[in-house]
Order: sequence, then C-alpha cells, then structure tokens
Amino acid sequence: MVEHTLLVTGGATGIGLAFAERFLAAGHTVAICGRREDKLAAAKAKHPALVTFRADVASAADRVRLRDEALAALPELDTLVNNAGVQRRDRFRGATPSWDEREGEIATNFDAPVHLADLFLPHLLGRPSATLVNVTSGLAFVPAPFAPVYGATKAALHSFTMALRHHLANTAVRVVEIVPPMVNTDLGGVGLHDAGVPLAEFADAVMARYEAGELEIGYQFAETARKASREESDAAFARFCKMMPVD
Ligand SMILES: NC(=O)c1ccc[n+]([C@@H]2O[C@H](COP(=O)([O-])OP(=O)(O)OC[C@H]3O[C@@H](n4cnc5c(N)ncnc54)[C@H](OP(=O)(O)O)[C@@H]3O)[C@@H](O)[C@H]2O)c1
Repeated sequence: MVEHTLLVTGGATGIGLAFAERFLAAGHTVAICGRREDKLAAAKAKHPALVTFRADVASAADRVRLRDEALAALPELDTLVNNAGVQRRDRFRGATPSWDEREGEIATNFDAPVHLADLFLPHLLGRPSATLVNVTSGLAFVPAPFAPVYGATKAALHSFTMALRHHLANTAVRVVEIVPPMVNTDLGGVGLHDAGVPLAEFADAVMARYEAGELEIGYQFAETARKASREESDAAFARFCKMMPVD
C-alpha cells in the first residue's frame, strides 16, 4: 500500500472528520485544521495519531502560516483536502448582514481553496504523486435560493476545480472534486441538516470511489445534479424555489 500524508481543512467535525478517520484507518498520516480549539482537541483525544493545526482559512495570513507549519511538520505531505466550509441561510430582502459576515463565507468557501492551491502546489508538484481535493456541493450545480452566496461559492469552486485539473493534466498532481448532497452534519448550525444522508454512509461511499480513482464524486441528489442537463437543473431549482416562496 502507498502511504499518504494528508491535510484536511475543517477536519475536526462532520465530513472532514469522517474522511480523516477513514484515511487514518487505512494507515495514512492525517493532519486537520480548524478554528475551534475544543473541536480540534476532541478529535485528537479520539484519534491521538491526528496532527492538528489551529487555523482560520478565511484569513490569508493564517493560510500562509498553515502552509508553513504543515510542511515543516509533515514534509511528506502529498494530499490537500479543501473541505472547510460555512453556510449562511438568508434572503436578499433588506435584512443585510455585515459585509464581514458575508465576506467570511466567500473567503472560507472560495478564496481559501484557491489560495491554498497556490500555496501548496509548489510542494505538491515536487512529490512523486499528489492529490488536491476540493469539496463542493450539489448546490454548485443547482442554485440554492435558501443559501444564495453559499451556492455561488460552490459553483465557483466547481468551475475553478475543472480548470485546475486541466492546468495540472500533465503533472503528477491529481485534482478530485467531492460533491456532497445534504449530509447530516452541523453545517450552518445544529439541526439544519438533520434530514441529510447519514454521515458514515456518505463517507464510506465517497471513499470507495476516491480509492478507485474517480475524479468527480457525487452521491444521491448531488450525483444526479452534477450530471443534470440545463433543463433538469432548472427543474430542480424550481422545486427549491417552491420550498422558499416569496411574498
Ligand atoms: N453537510 C452538508 O449537507 C454538505 C452538503 C454539501 C457540501 N458540504 C460541504 O462539506 C464541507 C464540510 O461541511 P460539513 O457538512 O462537514 O459541516 P461542518 O461539520 O460544519 O464542518 C465544517 C468544518 O469546517 C471548519 N471551518 C469552517 N470555517 C472555517 C475556517 N474559516 N477556517 C478553518 N476551518 C473552518 C469547521 O470548524 P471550525 O468552525 O472550528 O473552524 C468545521 O470543522 C463544507 O465545505 C460544506 O460546504 C456539506
């Protein structure tokens, strides 16, 4: 078995932790990062082999520090999983949040994976083989009226991921996109995703296809959405809009 060394952003909870646990169980070296010390400590207590870094990927300075600390601690690093994400539910009808709040969502979901790709690629390109993973969403393919900025950041990240894969086509860096449907995690706040796919079921299905070498991996709604025609995507958007009527 080839041993890999991975950094999973946002790996202390939810989908990132589920991936981190599966990579650990397969014998790989895994580092995670996040903002909340208690979540990092809890993950480390459960899995002492995890390497943890406190970093806010919405901050450009933190992203540079994360790159420096991760490569100093783990010079064998060959896989970056851009998983950290936040979701705000809102409507553009006057209840405008502060720009800092909105910008934080864009910075976490889009600026961070782009900047981290820039920061880690010189190192990854020097490895015999490497993988860069971006976690997008089924909402990259069907706009989400209940989370308009979130959906747009994920659509942007999907677009960037496809172009990046082309740029790196003749290198040893593989570019993978994971496209989750609604999964039962605390994304956006506790309880908002309770109706989602069970986390373990989703993570097991994705890991099997990742190990098999697939480059764009969806599940259930997200698998349908990523393959949808424009007409099918519009019909799914219309169904979302019915769930969120405007007066
Ligand atoms: N659950 C779903 O239904 C669903 C569907 C489609 C896509 N996704 C995507 O899957 C990814 C993981 O989400 P999840 O569902 O597992 O939710 P989650 O449990 O809330 O996980 C998000 C993780 O990202 C970390 N994070 C957020 N902002 C960060 C920042 N600025 N810097 C560093 N870490 C940050 C969080 O830790 P801290 O708060 O401690 O920083 C948390 O550990 C996200 O990209 C999300 O958009 C999820």
